Amino acid sequence: MIATILPEQKKHHPVLLQELISIISPQYGGKFIDCTFGQGGYTKKILEFSNTEVIAIDRDANSGKISKNLEKKYKNRILFKNIKFSEINKLNLNKKKIKAIVFDLGYSLNQMKDPNKCLSFNSIGELNMKLGLNEFSAKEVVNNLDKKDLEKIFKYFGNEKDAKKIASVIERERVNENIDTQKLVKIIESSKRKKNYKIHSATKIFQAIRIFVNKEISELIYGLINATKIIEKDGIIAVVTFHSIEDKIVKYFFKSLSEAKSVSRYLPKQNIKTNIFKLINKKAIIPTYKEVQKNPTSRSAKLRFAIKIAEKNNFESDFLEKFKNLIEIENYSAKL
Ligand SMILES: C[S@@+](CC[C@H](N)C(=O)[O-])C[C@H]1O[C@@H](n2cnc3c(N)ncnc32)[C@H](O)[C@@H]1O
Repeated sequence: MIATILPEQKKHHPVLLQELISIISPQYGGKFIDCTFGQGGYTKKILEFSNTEVIAIDRDANSGKISKNLEKKYKNRILFKNIKFSEINKLNLNKKKIKAIVFDLGYSLNQMKDPNKCLSFNSIGELNMKLGLNEFSAKEVVNNLDKKDLEKIFKYFGNEKDAKKIASVIERERVNENIDTQKLVKIIESSKRKKNYKIHSATKIFQAIRIFVNKEISELIYGLINATKIIEKDGIIAVVTFHSIEDKIVKYFFKSLSEAKSVSRYLPKQNIKTNIFKLINKKAIIPTYKEVQKNPTSRSAKLRFAIKIAEKNNFESDFLEKFKNLIEIENYSAKL
């Protein structure tokens, strides 16, 4: 797992843009939902085609400022909503038929560079990591959560081998003074048994805390469920992920709802599985060598998409069960 954005990068490049556009085909017009507006890379491209409309969502209110310029240029064709995408089902769609719903997960370069957000291990000051509309910050997590809980967060959301040791040192050190960003980096560096020369020692722990602070797993799970509920037949859901946990969730969701298991004709009718999605590509689409050269942060990106082919109620129970341990870990936040 690698950090999505490298600190040295200067300009924002929307990841896998051409591939996404060829999947959702805005050249034929239609209504789209961009669940992760960010700096508007995807939305701008969609709006360049006439007869398109975009509902742009972002949990970061700062994205609303970027959408203002597009609102001037494209008048009634863009509507920005400062909400979390897990709540996409609460949008008032006024019977609009949505052609595609897109997600480009993680955070943007602007957010990475924002000194107040402290998303990077190069940041100085209080721990934060809030992307927007959060209930708590990284400061509360690192300074208050139980050692055992921190260990699980580091292990499951960061795949960190030294999770136990790092959690113990945090617990010991925070007795004397609050742990800020740089202190956390020092704790991680001093606790690691082996130095990794490919990525910074703090990358995995920072990723894990960011996922926890923003409840990124629950957001993705409920985002997918609710997008499936609101998109109509023939609509497309497309998701760009940046690390293995996200990709595993998206892959399972699309695959499990698109593969009818062979069922016995003697089974009661209600047990026969209907497919909700059709998958065109079984494998994830990844950036070309050229894109990675131009934008190294795209190297871990994976794009998966599915076409809705049928309506079905109560399709989510197996999906929720499959990832219930990860949702449970995110719910440790109730202890804060
Ligand atoms: C990688 S950026 C998107 C970049 C965008 N595609 C572009 O080209 O400019 C991810 C954006 O998603 C937003 N985001 C992350 N999780 C979210 C959530 N659960 N609900 C709404 N927005 C979210 C972040 O605030 C960030 O602005």
